Amino acid sequence: MAERLSPEQYSATLIDHFERPRNAGAMPDADAEAFVTNPVCGDSLRIFLRFAEGRVIAASFLSSGCPASIATSSAATEMVTGRTLDEAEAFTRDDYAAAVDGLPTSKVHCSVLAASAVRQAVAAWRAKQTA
Ligand code: FES
Repeated sequence: MAERLSPEQYSATLIDHFERPRNAGAMPDADAEAFVTNPVCGDSLRIFLRFAEGRVIAASFLSSGCPASIATSSAATEMVTGRTLDEAEAFTRDDYAAAVDGLPTSKVHCSVLAASAVRQAVAAWRAKQTA
């Protein structure tokens, strides 16, 4: 049975993303991907992006992480889809935390996985284009 989150600790939006993660799963035809690990806790995230005409047209993720990292990763895949590369790169951990209506103080660091992974995947794509 899935872990139940306390509404006293987590927002309804975060709980919704955790219980029904958007764009969860691998993307076999991704143009770029990135794998990041949080050195503090060891949680990890792999993000997959597909691009067309300078924009992210699809995003998905695989997570081995806490509820906060799963929820912010889920939100991140929604937020970057349709965005230009610059816009996707510009999102910060705070933007992803805000997208789930905030994180508990002890979980503030968890949204760094999504921000780092998106930036690394975009950077990988840019590097491919200039290779
Ligand atoms: Fe590790 Fe949240 S506790 S990312």
